[in-house]
Amino acid sequence: MSLKICFVTAELAPLAKAGGLADVSGALLKSLLARGHDVRLFMPAYGSIDLTKLDAQPVGALQNLPVTIGGQDVSFSVLSVQVPNSTARAYLVDCPQYFHRAGIYGNAADEHRRFLLLTHAAFISCQHLSFAPDILHCNDWHTAAGPLWLRTLYQWDGLFEHTRSVLTIHNIGYQGVFAPTIADDLLPPHMHPALHQDDLRAGQINLLRLGLVYADMITTVSPTYAREIMTPQYGHGMESTLSSRLNVVGILNGVDYDEWDPRHDRYLPLHYGANKLGTKAKLKELLLERVGLEPAAAARRPLIGMVTRLAEQKGIDLLFDALPATLAERDFNLVVLGAGESRYEHFFQELQQQYPARVKHARGYSEELSHWIEAGSDMFLMPSRYEPCGLNQLYSLRYGTVPIVRRTGGLADSVEHFDFVTGTGTGIVFNDYDADGVRWALNTAMDLYQQKSHWRRLVQNGMAKDFSWQHQVGEYERVYQQLVDSAGPRA
Ligand code: ADP
Ligand code: GLC
Repeated sequence: MSLKICFVTAELAPLAKAGGLADVSGALLKSLLARGHDVRLFMPAYGSIDLTKLDAQPVGALQNLPVTIGGQDVSFSVLSVQVPNSTARAYLVDCPQYFHRAGIYGNAADEHRRFLLLTHAAFISCQHLSFAPDILHCNDWHTAAGPLWLRTLYQWDGLFEHTRSVLTIHNIGYQGVFAPTIADDLLPPHMHPALHQDDLRAGQINLLRLGLVYADMITTVSPTYAREIMTPQYGHGMESTLSSRLNVVGILNGVDYDEWDPRHDRYLPLHYGANKLGTKAKLKELLLERVGLEPAAAARRPLIGMVTRLAEQKGIDLLFDALPATLAERDFNLVVLGAGESRYEHFFQELQQQYPARVKHARGYSEELSHWIEAGSDMFLMPSRYEPCGLNQLYSLRYGTVPIVRRTGGLADSVEHFDFVTGTGTGIVFNDYDADGVRWALNTAMDLYQQKSHWRRLVQNGMAKDFSWQHQVGEYERVYQQLVDSAGPRA
């Protein structure tokens, strides 16, 4: 059955991307449209988006629409744009005072208002377009006011009588916690009883928690993470809120193989598949040259790649001990593309200074270089402290780049440790979050690399895996359908 879906997100690849949320929004949009659903995706028209090649068209009914947020009048307009490299279109919410800023996210005092405006814009646009969504699909704290407002602010409107909300947790570590003074920005005073009273007493408003309390269905991006976030170790204080809900559905992210496949990757100068691994070796040389590392010893010396936000979540702390020790003992190269917290940036910069011929840290963000690293590396390191899903290990598998991961979240659900005896498995998986775990994993990977037949098997096992969205989108459809089937008029 074709469904009407209103999808609200802070990121959409390739228009605005800070991490995996963008990739997932883009791929889910395309996949749901391909299944015949009517999907209206709303995201901010960030100032960084170049509108010139997007066939941007103002939506007639959605110009200069007023919203009042906490007594302040704001107005927005909506542009319909072509999502590059696809036939999909998306709605960009244009409000320069909020969205023409340096980055996607910021620290200004009105940060919450930017995303409240986005979420309002989705509701108000549906009203003006007479679009009665079956599903309102919100993502992370930025749009978590959606489920709350469906039950409060916009409940009066019969248009949303049958609408059911889904909130997807891409990362429970970011919750949108603000001072209680933002209460009026969220709801008028007579509706404040709908806010989370314990949080208010504790002197805060937690937008993610409100979404989790009010959503008709909560999903997250892998089955293991769905279980992990019920525990104090991984729940970031949300575990009791989550346990009071019936369940959290874990749906592993997929890969958009139109974007991430070495057989036709638009960023690569050469292409390869499982039976053309010589070309991958050539790409390794080109990558080493490009980043200024000596390609002469390339064949013998494994190249480890990393592409990551440099945040605590990603397990960089473990590398403070593990990498210098392993670099001193073993012969390998390391290429890291990543930006973020300065302590991590300094660490990689220093490592590069210490080993200029073997280590390269490219600080910053580069879509192109990220594809080159996926293709040119032999191994890809993700020692995450926690990882809701993780996409780079999935990309790595397709690129024949052996993932070295910690057994957590989506990494545990997508990478199987290689078994020498049976020849099964797709990567190197370590359990404990400690430096010895990483050192063991790096050493195991490098030992295997020297055993060419094992290595070839491991690489090919990974390349044969299929994590396409065609499978995963069916799981979202099941969730949606379950909600629609149970949707009488809202209580
Ligand atoms: P997260 O969303 O937690 O950052 P994911 O593994 O889900 O982790 O997704 C990260 C996405 O962001 C991947 O597509 C990865 O290639 C990309 N990425 C991360 N850092 C950079 C960077 N510095 N330059 C280019 N792409 C990056
Ligand atoms: C988050 C998570 C990452 C996940 C991505 C997309 O940013 O950190 O693990 O893959 O969202 O769901």
